[in-house]
Amino acid sequence: MIYLDNAATSFPKPPQVIRAVSGTMEKLGANPGRGGHHLALQAGRVVQACREEAARLLGMEKPERIVFTKNCTEALNLAISGVLKQGDEVLCSHSEHNAVMRLLKRYAAWGQIALRVLPPDGMGILQPHTLQEHITLRTALVVVCHASNVTGVIQPVARLGAICRENGVPLLVDAAQTAGVLDVSPEALRADMVAMPGHKGLLGPHGTGLLALGERIDPEPLMVGGTGSASESMLQPDLLPDRYESGTLNLPGIAGLLQGIRFARRYRSEIHEYESYLNQRFRRQVAGLPGLRLLHHPDAECVGITSFVVEGMDAGQIADGLDASGIAVRGGLHCAPAMHTWLGTLQSGAVRISPGIYNTEQEIDDAAAILGRIITAR
Ligand code: ALA
Repeated sequence: MIYLDNAATSFPKPPQVIRAVSGTMEKLGANPGRGGHHLALQAGRVVQACREEAARLLGMEKPERIVFTKNCTEALNLAISGVLKQGDEVLCSHSEHNAVMRLLKRYAAWGQIALRVLPPDGMGILQPHTLQEHITLRTALVVVCHASNVTGVIQPVARLGAICRENGVPLLVDAAQTAGVLDVSPEALRADMVAMPGHKGLLGPHGTGLLALGERIDPEPLMVGGTGSASESMLQPDLLPDRYESGTLNLPGIAGLLQGIRFARRYRSEIHEYESYLNQRFRRQVAGLPGLRLLHHPDAECVGITSFVVEGMDAGQIADGLDASGIAVRGGLHCAPAMHTWLGTLQSGAVRISPGIYNTEQEIDDAAAILGRIITAR
């Protein structure tokens, strides 16, 4: 099988990630932070090592400001639900995934917030002047998706963040498609909170995610409960990261994530370069196919994602055809309806390919050739 769905989750994982997960399950079956026995302390050290590795990746001096979650969606829910109050106004980009959009729409439907989805320019970029024009005294949060999971187009987040800082408005960045390939440190992005999955570009296992909290923000926890600390109190402790990490952590996942982050930290630029190269190679080969339209603007800077539509063909039909030939891609709406509305592809959906570090040039060429055959045989 040729796996070209790394924007959904990276696969395969580096061998050291797999070894860490299974080694932890075989030998380290204790609960970190719960109990003072040898094995629990050792498990706690694995969690701390991962937190410190993530802090190094993100250029953060305080590892305790990195919170483990079960995925990027949970990190985004924590960030959004933790800062919003009745009557707040929230601004977000058109590229937002449903992990952001559904929660904001829900608060808007309940009459708790006013939501504005900001228009992009013709290239799909949210321009800083557009953000500036929409910020009001009621704006309590700006949410920006660093790179679209549909088109791969990268937003100028640091410039948007500078505007947020000038206006005293917190910025939340959804780094679902950029963590592990671009610099997503809160400082570089001028962000107050950066949410990311552990299982995509960070190369960790499913069920892992992170929320990086800048120095100036202190959201309310999404969940409260046992933290293994301050057990005499029936109130949630303020201590970080315990305040945000109630319940038993995903120790095997975090052990794998530690290895994934190490790998991503060492090879980040090369990974971005290689994935971009594979995308360019695919695009060059398919661009002339009859009726095929690539969905990103040719001049826009992108991460390793290529989406396209083919006139007269349903995206699901193409994705199924590729699957039948042993090629895994994602067809449909990619949980990003605002983006598909903007692209005019809400009815047809789109086909997305997203190569990863283990794909070869030959696999890209094969995928392009098979796509060509599916399109010409219709
Ligand atoms: N959000 C992931 C994707 O884009 C799952 O496929």
